[in-house]
Amino acid sequence: MLASLLLVALAGVVSAAPADLKARALPTPITAAVAKTYLSELTVAVDSNSPAYARSQFKTWDIISGTCDTRETVLKRDGTNVVTSSACAATSGNWVSPYDGVATTLASDLDIDHLVPLKEAWISGARDWTAAQREAFANDLTRPQLVAVTDNLNEAKSDKDIANWVPPLASYQCTYARAWVEVKHYYNLTIDSAEKTAITNILAKC
Ligand SMILES: *[C@@H]1O[C@H](CO)[C@@H](O)[C@H](O)[C@H]1NC(C)=O
Repeated sequence: MLASLLLVALAGVVSAAPADLKARALPTPITAAVAKTYLSELTVAVDSNSPAYARSQFKTWDIISGTCDTRETVLKRDGTNVVTSSACAATSGNWVSPYDGVATTLASDLDIDHLVPLKEAWISGARDWTAAQREAFANDLTRPQLVAVTDNLNEAKSDKDIANWVPPLASYQCTYARAWVEVKHYYNLTIDSAEKTAITNILAKC
């Protein structure tokens, strides 16, 4: 019952759920129609890992408000009934991971996924950015770029692009592709040809 209400909330029918069960997941991505236009505007290029990527090139997690950093802010945003300690650690709450539909009451079961992975950003353009631009990307709460998901999915995804990994919940793949295109487009990142094919195929089914 609880899980199904949360899934309804995640699907966007938030008005049907009681106020205390509203799930506020990642910012709603652009529509499939806009994503198709943006996709056609992206530069297709071969990825380059020269100079080589290192995680330390992207500073995480910034303090957003009070004692809460970006990671903790996303955990609060993406859950319902989230209770936090004075240090902003989530001590209880209800979450549904949108990538697989799995519900949990344990914040420790969740990772904050960079939807466009940091290494993927690096090899598709962020290698030319300033450190401040990379920090803004890694902590972006405005674009649909950060999402609380089951931790083992985040590990399975790792640095893979959308041609090599999509969320196992088929009904979420359209949202994922729309978000992927929005983020790449906003940040002027390139896509490789396999990525373009994969996105085109997903958007055709939206
Ligand atoms: C992307 O490129 C456009 C056009 O050159 C520029 O105006 C915009 O600021 C760039 N976006 C970012 C996030 O750097």
